[in-house]
Formats: sequence, C-alpha cells, structure tokens
Amino acid sequence: MSRWLRPTAGSGHPRLEFGADYNPEQWPREVWARDVELMRSAGVTIVTVGVFSWARLQPRPDTWDFGWLDEVMDLLHAGGIAVDLATATASAPPWLHHRHPEILAVDAGGRTVWPGGRQHHRPTSPVFRRYAMALVERMARRYGDHPALAAWHVSNELGCHDVADHSPDAEVAFRAWLQRRYGDLGALNRAWGTSFWSQHYGDWAEIMTPRAVGPGAVPNPTQALDFDRFSSDALRDHLCAERDLLHTLTPDVPVTTNFMVMAETKGMDYASWAPEVDIVANDHYVFPGLGAATARDELSFSSNLTGNLAGGDPWWQMEHSTSAVNWQPVNPRKRPGELARDSLTHLAHGADAICYFQWRQSAAGAEKFHSAMLPHAGPDSAVFRDVTALGATLADLAPVAGARRVPARAAILWDWPSWWAVEQPFTPSSELRYRDEALGWYRAFLDAGVRADVVPAGADLSGYELVVAPVLHVVGPERAAELAAFVDGGGHLVATYSSGTVDDDAHALLGGYPGALRELLGIRVEEFAPLATGSTVTLDDGSTGDLWSEPVQLTDGAVEVLARYTGDGTDPGAADLAGLPAVTRRPAGAGSASYVSTRLDDRAPLLRRLLAGAGIHPELPGELCGRVELVRRGGFRFVINRTEAPVSLAPLGGIASLAGLPAATLPPRGVTVLRG
Ligand code: GLA
Ligand code: GLA
Repeated sequence: MSRWLRPTAGSGHPRLEFGADYNPEQWPREVWARDVELMRSAGVTIVTVGVFSWARLQPRPDTWDFGWLDEVMDLLHAGGIAVDLATATASAPPWLHHRHPEILAVDAGGRTVWPGGRQHHRPTSPVFRRYAMALVERMARRYGDHPALAAWHVSNELGCHDVADHSPDAEVAFRAWLQRRYGDLGALNRAWGTSFWSQHYGDWAEIMTPRAVGPGAVPNPTQALDFDRFSSDALRDHLCAERDLLHTLTPDVPVTTNFMVMAETKGMDYASWAPEVDIVANDHYVFPGLGAATARDELSFSSNLTGNLAGGDPWWQMEHSTSAVNWQPVNPRKRPGELARDSLTHLAHGADAICYFQWRQSAAGAEKFHSAMLPHAGPDSAVFRDVTALGATLADLAPVAGARRVPARAAILWDWPSWWAVEQPFTPSSELRYRDEALGWYRAFLDAGVRADVVPAGADLSGYELVVAPVLHVVGPERAAELAAFVDGGGHLVATYSSGTVDDDAHALLGGYPGALRELLGIRVEEFAPLATGSTVTLDDGSTGDLWSEPVQLTDGAVEVLARYTGDGTDPGAADLAGLPAVTRRPAGAGSASYVSTRLDDRAPLLRRLLAGAGIHPELPGELCGRVELVRRGGFRFVINRTEAPVSLAPLGGIASLAGLPAATLPPRGVTVLRG
C-alpha cells in the first residue's frame, strides 16, 4: 500500500476518498456547521480547502488572517473530514498586482492579461514567486501538524489560463531554458533552422518568445515547439518550488496538484510532471458537444491515461462535475445515472478519491451556474440524493481502495510534443486533430471488447504485445530505437499517417516518409495526399478514409498489403491512388510493424485483424463486446454500459456484484463491480 493512502480507522485498509473543493469563505460562518453535517450525511471523507483564499488569508501585504481557516480546519476535523489543503497561490489578490503590476502575464499580441478573472500572473515572475512562497511557508508552518491535513494541493490547475506567457520575465526565462538546452547559439541556430527566412541569431538577447506575427506568416516552428516545451516546464518549475518547500517543512504530508488530462487541454506535458508529485490527481469535465457516446469514451480515455501517468498506482480524481458545467456554449445537466457512471469510471481506472468541483454551489461569482454536490435547490434535490447514494456505494467499495490497475496487453501511445508539433500551422492539413486519432483507436478497442492502456510515449513497452502509435509525429532517434526494439522483441506495432515525420527539432526526416519509421515499416512515401474537407477515399476492405491519404510504396518484399485504395471516393485525387497500398504489415520475427495511411471511418474491423494477428482476444463474451467497457483493477472487474439501452449481464454467467450494484441487467449508463 502506498505510504500516502489514509487507512480506515479500525481495519487499517485504505479507504476511497469522497469529496469536493470546499470554499467556506463564500458563505457566512453559520453555514459551515451545516455544511459539515451534510457532508457527513453524504459520506464525504475529504475536502480541498483554500484554493482561492489568498486574498482572505493575506488581506494586505503585511496582514495575515488565518483565524477563519483555523476554525474551518477544526470544524472539519471534528466532523471526521480530512483536508487536502491548497497552498492558495492559484490567484493573486488585488493588492499584489496593484503594487506589482509587473506580475501580470502578457499574451502573444503583447497585451497585458488583466486581473479580474483568475490566474493572471506570469508563471516565471520572480516577484510573484517570492510572494507565493511566503504564503506557502505560512500555510505549512501553521497547518503542517493539523490533524485534518491529509495532503497539500499546490496552486490549482497550473496553466489553465496562463500557459503561454510572453512577458519580459518569460522571455528571460525562455532564453535561460534555451541556453540549458542548446549550450551555444550555433546549436540553437541549427536546431531552429534559422537560415530560413533570415532568422539567424547573433546574440541570445535577440531571441523572443514566438509572438503573434504578421498576417499570413507563422513563427519559426522549432521556436514554437521549444516554447511549448518551455511553457510546460516553467509551470512545472513552480510546482516543484512549492513542493520542495513543503517537503522540507512537512516531509510526511503528500503533495499533489490537479492536472487537466481532458479533451483539448494541451499545454502541459504531464508525462514530465507526474514523477514530481506524491499523488497524481486529475480534473476532468465531460464535453457533451462530442455527442454522448464519444464524450463517455473520452472520459474513459483521459482517466486511463491519468492512471498510466501514475504508473498504475492509485490516483485522485480531484474535480469533475455532479451535473452541468457553466463554461460551454450550452450546459446540459447530467442524465440519470451519469453522475455515478462518470465517477465509477474514474474509480475503475485507478482513482482512489472521487471529488468534485465543488461542495456547495456558489450563489455569487462567475461559477454560480456550475453544479455542485449541494445544489442551489438544497439537500432536497435529485443531485444531492445521487451524491449521497454514491457516497454509500463508495463506502461499500472500500475493498477496491489501493488496488493497482491491471495492465492490458495492448497500448496506445500518447505524446505531447507530437500533439504540439502536428497541430502547428503550415502543415499538409490544418484539419488534422491529434487527439481525435488517438481517441478513435481507443474507441476501436472498446468496440472490439479489448482493453488498451493509454500510455505516455517513452514508457516501458516490454509488457505489451500490440502498441498503436496514432500520429506519433515527432520521432527522434531514441523513440525510433524504442519502437524498433519493441518489434524486435516480438511486439506488434501499428503506426498511422503523419507518424515519424519529424525529429525532436521538428526537422523533416529525409529520403521519404515516414522517415524515422520507414525501414521498420518497410514502406516509403514521396508525397502526402491530404484530402479535401469532407471528401473521402475508399479501400478494398470496404472501409472509407478521409482527412489524409498517401501513395504508399513497398520497400521490403515481406510487407503484406492489408488494404488497397480502390481509386473510388469523393476526393478529386482519389483515382490517382487506385491500387496502391493503404494499410500494410511487415512481419518481423515474432512481431510486426503495420502502417495505416488514412483516417479510417471505422477502425474496429482492421483492429480486429491486427489483434487476431497478435493473438489478443476479447476478455468479454461476444454479445457484450462493444456494448460495455471492461476495466480491471486489482482483483476487481468493472463493467460499464457504453450504450443508452439496458444491457443484460447474463453472458457473464451467474455474477455476484459488489455494493448492491446491478447483477442481472445494467441500466443505461449503469456500472457494476465484480470480484475476480
Ligand atoms: C476548474 C477549476 C475550478 C472550477 C472548475 C469549473 O476545474 O479548477 O476552480 O473553475 O474548473 O468547472
Ligand atoms: C510566397 C513567398 C515565398 C514562399 C511562398 C510559399 O511566394 O514569396 O517566400 O513563402 O509564398 O508559397
């Protein structure tokens, strides 16, 4: 058991935590006792306190007010509720930017990011850092020994609003980061390809962040990619600074911060952040705009990736919503069963804490229309009843706590630099979306009834038999060697279009695409053939491709063609591809290396063939494949209804479910947990 899990009194077994952000400063203190009483009735075990409290804790530069927080901490402790205490540095108080306007971030157009919202500071500001660290030190000294303290919560969603800062502080830090990366200017000039467009640098002081350039032009792509790397590192540096101070002052208290592995949040390379925290924690919100089915699978995908960022250890679902959010164009409430289904899906993928934003729905402020555990309507509400029912379920599911994810036999590689690079401007198609391809393969695995782990590129692949690399655009020598070693070791690799195209400096690899993987795949492509918006090409296995195609040549006699372009399709260039390979497979020893040169409308039929070739079979009876998601954690199986219809569990045989969860039929959006 991880040293950071809180044991349950009596049994000593770890518990599943249940709770939310709690913002008592938004309410008169008469409400606080009632809050604790209702938390207890809902089964809440932990709350995150103080996320946006800086202005109340330090109302003036030299005035501190901890009295109210002392009272809240004591009250929660008396109620048996633990605290994940924020360091409160997420949003600077008005006096700080009034006194030091030089902490304010600057956007790519050179405009000040004004206060009035939140998180308006420069991540690299030495002034901000000094004030933030003083606050962290006060918090640690005051509450380090408080019996309610279970964990430190550094800042909040680092990078949510301030990931790309172009201020003078950012510029100085960017240059220092580049000096560490390249050592001398010659190396930087080579890496950035500055002979192009007259960009050669003669002095470090000439280097800027990639600001907005004139219409029709774009910043240097390697500079932009390095700025993405730097911006992620700068935020991580703040995390590490707070963590180091906390570890020094309170070595026995775990430190976490809430990541944002979800949808299009792309600024932070969490693969490099995860080793820096004691407990990985994530925030996830569903995006109904994707459509109900894709939104559900997207949640599972993000949760799966988070679990693998945590290396298989339990992690915390720090925020999600009980019902509607307030920041989408239209904010539907959750449908019956959805609250529990979303939470239990996170639990399935390894979460040991199920927490929401927030405990009590705000009456004032920008998020008053965002749902909470305790809605505006009060405890006499469907949401609060669902919350309370889930609290009871989680208490009954305590045996699951501490259990590690059971690795799958297949994996999907996830790579932040590839995401950043492939979605830069001036590429063959501006319509390529990195995440869509990865999610498309994940859904194909779900459709096939086969579990797949979403793992950060660079992770040890030796335990996997089949690995899909969707749009693994950036492949440097190290990554190329890892993939070759995987295939040499008998693994089955599946790479898609736009993989292996550029190296770590975003330079095109010469001699034909996909440069870094050409030999491994036994193919060569002279020119990409992206497809016109909405148009298609057809393949002789009956599938359809859109977005992208390639005239693939075979360079190795052993390569098999799994599907060819027919020459039909609505794209004007479809006929030029007639008879050319579209999907290939090169056997290599006990393993193989396959290539998919277009975006398939339905990846499941091809995936089934590839899985059969790899000897991987569904762990579910055929009738259930695609209709439910199966997730394994320790000695438990989670079965989640992916459909909007009831699903009979009879094919599983006589099952005994835990915690009173369904045993015969899963209702729409239903979940059950089985032993074994
Ligand atoms: C983020 C923040 C919270 C809140 C929620 C609303 O996750 O961390 O403070 O704004 O979004 O969905
Ligand atoms: C213009 C410019 C060239 C080049 C091309 C690309 O013609 O003069 O330098 O950028 O566009 O199409």
